[in-house]
Amino acid sequence: MNRPQIPYIDVGLVDNVVSHWRAGEVAVIPTETVYGLGADATNGQAVAKIYTIKSRPQFNPLIVHVADVATAKKYVEWNEAAETLAQKFWPGPLTLVLKRRADCPISELVSAGGDTLAIRVPAHPVALQLLKAFGGGIAAPSANRSGRVSPTTAQHVRDELGDAVAYIVDGGPCEVGLESTVLDLSGDMPVILRPGAITRAMLGEALNHKAPEIAKTDLNHDTSSIKSPGMLASHYAPSIPVRLNATHVAEGEALLAFGPAQLAGGITTLNLSAKGDLIEAAANLFSHLRVLDKTHHRAIAVMPIPNEGIGEAINDRLSRASVK
Ligand code: TXA
Ligand code: MG
Repeated sequence: MNRPQIPYIDVGLVDNVVSHWRAGEVAVIPTETVYGLGADATNGQAVAKIYTIKSRPQFNPLIVHVADVATAKKYVEWNEAAETLAQKFWPGPLTLVLKRRADCPISELVSAGGDTLAIRVPAHPVALQLLKAFGGGIAAPSANRSGRVSPTTAQHVRDELGDAVAYIVDGGPCEVGLESTVLDLSGDMPVILRPGAITRAMLGEALNHKAPEIAKTDLNHDTSSIKSPGMLASHYAPSIPVRLNATHVAEGEALLAFGPAQLAGGITTLNLSAKGDLIEAAANLFSHLRVLDKTHHRAIAVMPIPNEGIGEAINDRLSRASVK
């Protein structure tokens, strides 16, 4: 009997990976582009673990992977261009950035606090098998440590992440080997944020022969090289000032606390993590900032966050939020 050319995995392994995801853990899966470090996109703490494992000093927004268009439509405001391109290129190496739906259950951390979501249906039988069985969105950046190249074999992932992840699903070498094209469809005109295997010409042909522009900012570069933090539209900035490393609460301020210590004066207080857990804090960061922003205080005072592990990413994000 011939062995099938296309790799499928055992149902037992599918069940294991899916229960792992449901439990808020991270598993590496193959896609046709590169291997992805995947977690339940609706679970902020699970998503925060991705950043910890990648040792990412910033919260770059992540791509959500789904099994089909119907699932994508539950998360984002669908439009005509999205429909055309999804019909033509999904499953495949094209990521669409669209506005989050008002009832979008995906963690705000996945969008780095922004109002858009990047989403795609990967063209890898194993990825599709797992996503179908899971039924929802899996947030997955490339499964490399921050600043390293993307892995295209399971062995690359083992070499780099080793024991940091419980599951590395081997689906063979990635066919495309280059990260997906990222196309922003959330504005008036489509813009290519990251070139990839679905080229500008291919997109242009599908979109009534109007090839989308390529954004000047190269998203593959570290966002710290971007001069103005406001340049990243996907990054959330509260409308009121943010005051960092607060050891007291001034009049008219709301308090974003961290850890068990109490600060006098904070009438409106939200705690990122009362037990001082940085993973929990990362998961709460953007949603807490959003809630405090809406309370119309003069400013948001933020207690010091330890600058270790994922705390670096939290502080990076907070310092961007504090620059006006
Ligand atoms: O091929 C791929 O896209 C792989 C596989 C695993 O699917 N994933 C991948 O993820 O390359 P990552 O995190 O390494 O790159 C995601 C890119 C980043 O450049 C990020 O800034 C951009 O997509 N991105 C994600 N969400 C976005 C959003 N809401 N708005 C703008 N850009 C977004
Ligand atoms: Mg990457």
